[in-house]
Amino acid sequence: MLTNSEWQNRILQGDCRKVLPKIPDAMVDLIVTSPPYADQRRHTYGGVHPDDYVDWFLPISEQLSRVLKPTGSFVLNIKERVVAGERHTYVLELIVALRKQGWLWTEEYIWHKKNCHPGKWPNRFRDAWERCLHFTKQKNFAMYQDAVMVPMGDWRHSRLKNLSETDKRRDNSRVQSGFGKKIANWIGREMAYPTNVMHLATECGNRNHSATFPVELPSWFIRLFTRPDNFVLDPFIGSGTTAVACRHLDRNYIGIEMNPDYIEVAEQRLEATVKPAPNLFTNGGVETSYGLK
Ligand SMILES: C[S@@+](CC[C@H](N)C(=O)[O-])C[C@H]1O[C@@H](n2cnc3c(N)ncnc32)[C@H](O)[C@@H]1O
Repeated sequence: MLTNSEWQNRILQGDCRKVLPKIPDAMVDLIVTSPPYADQRRHTYGGVHPDDYVDWFLPISEQLSRVLKPTGSFVLNIKERVVAGERHTYVLELIVALRKQGWLWTEEYIWHKKNCHPGKWPNRFRDAWERCLHFTKQKNFAMYQDAVMVPMGDWRHSRLKNLSETDKRRDNSRVQSGFGKKIANWIGREMAYPTNVMHLATECGNRNHSATFPVELPSWFIRLFTRPDNFVLDPFIGSGTTAVACRHLDRNYIGIEMNPDYIEVAEQRLEATVKPAPNLFTNGGVETSYGLK
């Protein structure tokens, strides 16, 4: 077994079911990944049948839980495909199965794909969003919300100009959830917390892999759930997008990828990656909506 420092900034070739057991216990702060979608890419990297997806994934998530620190997070970018004219339920079944495995389904973030291509289907519209499911091992986990704050924008000029009496006092939830908001708290502030919807364009430039996510997507979760020098794992790293984000943000990455051609693409991208992060990775680069907490 390799020591912790020997895992630092490496992409390992192989099936993650075989490689993950070699990673030491509790060494990873964040797992962010986009696994192969059920059966969808059979011709490019071997799919898993939607009916078998949960059984295939559970031994992997068991290893992910072992290597993740108790305060760590696991972000799973996934979207159920359409099978025989309706959405398959394997993602919903996977969420339930992961909870039974001991994970907490802490949150669901949405990646809204701003530039998805046009299309026409008889029974649905074009698919413009994917899930980013956030699982944790315990209720108290590492989260650095200030790292992803967004500018308040022009909204504040109109909304905060004429405050009602309710806006000036804490407005507690009517369902007695314990949550409440005081709009007046936001007067004079430049930045606010984002919502759980990320509006990100897909990247068309990476022609060597057919299913990449944009580098802003792992970057956002890396900033939210880790600190510099923490360890980020992507067990299905493909063309190395998560590693590129880590290099920009001074985090350590561990990547696993079955296909050696994609590892070559990843290594080329990493070589071309500049440090420190360009402006793209500051708050202004990600178009996220403000949200009141
Ligand atoms: C959806 S893609 C990930 C793309 C990646 N997020 C990127 O931006 O390039 C899934 C990747 O998982 C790899 N893969 C599939 N099964 C695997 C396995 N059992 N172990 C490791 N990698 C696997 C595929 O070759 C593919 O590159």
